[in-house]
Amino acid sequence: MNSSLNYYFALARSKESKHQNILRDLKHLLKSLGVSEATVTLEDQYNLSAEEILKINTFFSSYLAGIPFDYILNESEFMGHKFFVDSRVLIPRPETELIVEWVLDLSLNKNSKIFEVGTGSGCIAISICLKDEDLKILAADISDSALEVAQINQELHNARNVTFMQSSWLTCSAENSLDLVISNPPYIKPNDPHLKNLNHEPLIALTSKDGSESFFQIASQAIFSLKLGGKIIFEHGYSQAEEVTNILKDIGFKNIVTCKDFQGLDRYTYANK
Ligand SMILES: C[S@@+](CC[C@H](N)C(=O)[O-])C[C@H]1O[C@@H](n2cnc3c(N)ncnc32)[C@H](O)[C@@H]1O
Repeated sequence: MNSSLNYYFALARSKESKHQNILRDLKHLLKSLGVSEATVTLEDQYNLSAEEILKINTFFSSYLAGIPFDYILNESEFMGHKFFVDSRVLIPRPETELIVEWVLDLSLNKNSKIFEVGTGSGCIAISICLKDEDLKILAADISDSALEVAQINQELHNARNVTFMQSSWLTCSAENSLDLVISNPPYIKPNDPHLKNLNHEPLIALTSKDGSESFFQIASQAIFSLKLGGKIIFEHGYSQAEEVTNILKDIGFKNIVTCKDFQGLDRYTYANK
């Protein structure tokens, strides 16, 4: 066991050719363990405790095994808030913040009935309710274990305006009852080669038959559950805008609009019943 911080900085540097962010992430871990900003930034001499050494060694073994840093840290940042994450849920992606911003721009009122489908960590529903404390959201997931994580995040943020429940898509919602349906559903084809880079995240959060089945299933249920004029918004893959648009059109949605993400890629599509 080596108790010198400099030893671990050197170890991280020696792994940078294969793991380019390892030094940055080690520094982030150290700060989360309570090592001062100055010590970490200046790489000052510092004697680690046995507990800190254990955590740093776990960091190296997990990191080098390809486990995403957010899972090692059990933390992910989304909309400026920290969310608990582990392998039960998808790690929130920055582009998903665009959906939250779109919803906040709608200036919905406190009586609006909002349903998030496939809530995972709860990051979308909780972030909306933290920014607009008048809103109430029902957020559902089919996965019991994802809902356990969502509830941890609800406690963490004291987000009393979100109600989590287990449901397959919108099966629990009544006819003509909702003003807004929000979903970032699984949308990767089961044979997509990119999946091999995501093998620590839950498959149920990633894949859907043909990549588009979840959009079809959710939109088919949403046309029943939404009030006339109610809205639906989907996050989707950058190459799926046309497919999602056609699904929404065929099911009977109107005013269909696709928007781009930070990289100029088609990323979300919304429509009205
Ligand atoms: C892409 S993840 C999105 C998680 C979170 N909303 C986010 O944006 O980070 C999709 C979520 O849909 C859930 N899911 C998959 N099939 C479902 C179904 N039939 N009904 C409800 N939720 C489902 C998964 O468990 C997963 O949490």
